[in-house]
Amino acid sequence: MAKKGLRQVDCAGKRTLVRVDFNVPLDKQDSTVITDDTRIRAALPTIQHLVDAGAIVTLCSHLGRPKDAPDSSMSLAPAAERLGQLLGIEVPMAPDCVGDEVAQMRADLQAGQVLMLENTRFHREEKKNDPDFAKALAGDAELFVDDAFGSMHRAHASTVGVTEYIDVCVSGFLVERELEKLPPAREAGGDGFVVIMGGAKVEDKIDAIKMLLPRAERMIIGGAMSWAFFKAQGKEVGASLCKPDSVEAATEILANMAEHIDRLMLPVDVNMLQVDPDTGETKFAPADGIEPGWDALDIGPETRELYGRAVKDATVVFWNGPMGYFEKPPFDEGTVALAQALAETDAYTVVGGGDSAAAMNQLGFEDKVSHVSTGGGASIEFVQGDSLPGVDALDDA
Ligand code: 3PG
Repeated sequence: MAKKGLRQVDCAGKRTLVRVDFNVPLDKQDSTVITDDTRIRAALPTIQHLVDAGAIVTLCSHLGRPKDAPDSSMSLAPAAERLGQLLGIEVPMAPDCVGDEVAQMRADLQAGQVLMLENTRFHREEKKNDPDFAKALAGDAELFVDDAFGSMHRAHASTVGVTEYIDVCVSGFLVERELEKLPPAREAGGDGFVVIMGGAKVEDKIDAIKMLLPRAERMIIGGAMSWAFFKAQGKEVGASLCKPDSVEAATEILANMAEHIDRLMLPVDVNMLQVDPDTGETKFAPADGIEPGWDALDIGPETRELYGRAVKDATVVFWNGPMGYFEKPPFDEGTVALAQALAETDAYTVVGGGDSAAAMNQLGFEDKVSHVSTGGGASIEFVQGDSLPGVDALDDA
């Protein structure tokens, strides 16, 4: 069912709550520094539209995974500052997302002004979708705009609960675009559908692998999750990152999906680092040649070739997760090669997930693929065929 969008409502003078996904990466040494503002920029068209229309705008978001209590290292203050720079107006920061002081700040806002609320996850009620908390967060809003695609797979107070207390609930432009661009990957199946799964944790992607493996012609596996599959196959993995949960998940997939397993492509070679810090030596090895004391950190050149060919022959490609430790050259080569292959293929190409999307942006390839999603988990759940609670909660068109 199509959902009502921002263009279909009159927002002039409307008290508006906007859910954005400002869950942006922060510098590990200095949590006031945003290292990638893509998600803030992606929400600009919606916020600018509301400002220009004279809406009274309150923004809410989560950032990181705080332990249900305030944590200054996960404040949204740097995001408010960055947004203000991009909009060219001051965006004041509220001390919290609910409470009397915040309600007063919201009441004092004028048409065209924007207020940023503090991290919704500083309250445990957010993830519990607590009705009283949702009501307080909805506050005096007459219009709810959800532009946080990356969080729409979460049934939380700020994504679902607030819609019970606000009359009109619509999607923002970012969400509208995601729901326009992702369906070819959601509907793809059979010959020509290639899924690329990377990153470290098989256990986080086990449902997606189970849903997509039977649907895909090929499923390419890369990144540290490959070493979990190696271990599950009884191979030596040396000092490579290989969590027990991941190995357990890989073992389950290999055991229970035997009829589809020929579609799974695992690396045939790796690039690895000698753990002894005095040598810092790196070398390529075949998949069954990882030695004790060596840390596999990327796919090798033969694998790059093999995976590149699979992408070239595809009609629809969905990529989630890097092929290796791409922040640390030379272990970015596998991810760069895959990004290049996606940029060159004629297939319909969708990239989802923070790291793979960041790799596309860093390489300047974002315009060479059909769509770079702002969602990680949300894009996987959508493409695997699940409905997203945040979308379901919006008004029908
Ligand atoms: C994301 O980064 O995928 C979204 O912001 C959701 O974050 P979460 O996985 O912590 O809910």
